[in-house]
Amino acid sequence: MNIATHEAFLHALKSTLGSAVLAGEEIPIRNEQDWSALSSVRPLAVVRPTTPEAVAAAMRLCHAHRVAVVPQGGLTGLAGGARPIEDAVAISMERFTGIEEIDDDSSTITVRAGTPLEVVQQAADDAGFFFALDLGSRGSCTIGGNLGTNAGGNRVLRYGMMRELVLGLEVVLPDGTLVTSLNKMLKNNAGYDLKQLFIGSEGTLGIVTRIVLRLHPKPKSTMAAMVALDSYEHVLSLLASVRGNLGPLLSAFEVMWRDYWDVATGQVPGVRNPVPGDHPFTVLVEAQGNDAEGDPSRFYDTLKMAVESGFITDATIARSLSDVKDFWQTRDAAAEFKQVLGPHLSFDIGLPVAAMDRFALECRAALLRDVDGCRSYYYGHIADGNMHIIANVPAPVQQPADQINKVIYDLVKKHGGTISAEHGIGLTKKAYLGLTRSAEELAVMRLIKHALDPAGLLNPGKVFDMD
Ligand code: FAD
Ligand code: LAC
Ligand code: ZN
Repeated sequence: MNIATHEAFLHALKSTLGSAVLAGEEIPIRNEQDWSALSSVRPLAVVRPTTPEAVAAAMRLCHAHRVAVVPQGGLTGLAGGARPIEDAVAISMERFTGIEEIDDDSSTITVRAGTPLEVVQQAADDAGFFFALDLGSRGSCTIGGNLGTNAGGNRVLRYGMMRELVLGLEVVLPDGTLVTSLNKMLKNNAGYDLKQLFIGSEGTLGIVTRIVLRLHPKPKSTMAAMVALDSYEHVLSLLASVRGNLGPLLSAFEVMWRDYWDVATGQVPGVRNPVPGDHPFTVLVEAQGNDAEGDPSRFYDTLKMAVESGFITDATIARSLSDVKDFWQTRDAAAEFKQVLGPHLSFDIGLPVAAMDRFALECRAALLRDVDGCRSYYYGHIADGNMHIIANVPAPVQQPADQINKVIYDLVKKHGGTISAEHGIGLTKKAYLGLTRSAEELAVMRLIKHALDPAGLLNPGKVFDMD
């Protein structure tokens, strides 16, 4: 964009949207980057609208001037989806926050896209309900970003991913058209289910402004245990046992390999180790139910049976909600690895559950062999077939991302997995999308993108390139 066109565009943006527009030196550093390890890019301007109509007006102007737009939420994304690109406007939803309605009869909550996840969880709790999505970034990520990435997190095995929790939405299309589709009904088969297009499309098809979310009954009991095991075979036996005996009560099954556990409980400040000792695997098992009297003994009996079957080395059961919180700190510690290890890459691969440990063994060895000094740490939502890997070469400022990606994604292909189970593709995994999706699948994705955004202005170059 030449200087005169640039000035004319910024002038038009400011006269329509006033103080919602920040340009030049006014642009906050936080809007130049997300949580991925990519370098910062200063956008042309940051627009922080406070109404859906203002989002639509900003989008219409950008469309008329052929200026690209990058939607931003809480900027906790790990794939670079919200990272600005050169000469683009960032539309940040950070000021469009708040709960619009809680409908007791429909069990729904209607929220503005910029609302932090934790605020939605608290509002549901205050109203006597439970909003089931939960991620380590809950304090900073927004509900719009959760929708944009189809976030997963800690309770997917019980309640599903974000997709299962969205009933309706309002969205601004790339040409500025505002589409309001705030459905509250669990069943609605009148034509295409349009919301599904926007969920998980990483801000490439529309900017979501308001969302109707599904609420669940508030659990009357929450039980948790930290379980230490000596082999992955025993981890799988434990999973089969808790699934079989707890049925729908089972709400989380988070596995931590020894390398992860040692950093989380040995180096991250404030994290207690509930099962001291040198264990190859530690599992956080959580159950939630509606029978406050009967559920704890059912949980206890399930673990007792597992101990008697001989596949558990050690276990500690939470005696209070404060213990449950302490147990979760071992998983939330992942957020602090940046401080402890320094710059690193974060992966969210998907694999058949049975293949996880074989993969971890091969991957650890291949990274040590092929990438000088590379260490790796394994943990994740194993019952969902979703493993996280943190990989880093201590010391260098710039991680050898290409080398590390190649080792990991070649192994993912070999084991028949997916390069992204929950964080999305954004920029960091774009070059590898073809390992997981067929040419035909990619062609359909491009058709959809072209139909909704023929000028290619919304988050261009994210997920895949158009040509
Ligand atoms: P951003 O990073 O701002 O944006 C993410 C994507 O959504 C971008 O492509 C952006 O363009 C798009 N977007 C944002 N807002 C909108 C909107 N209103 N309309 C349309 N598109 C939009 N993820 C998981 O799935 N599971 C986890 O367990 C998990 N744990 C995490 C733990 C930590 C410590 C951290 C740092 C991240 C974790 N994440 C996890 C990743 C991240 O928090 C999620 O992807 C989250 O959903 C991103 O929300 P955000 O508001 O920060 O989005
Ligand atoms: C987690 C993130 C990284 O589960 O998805 O810790
Ligand atoms: Zn995760």
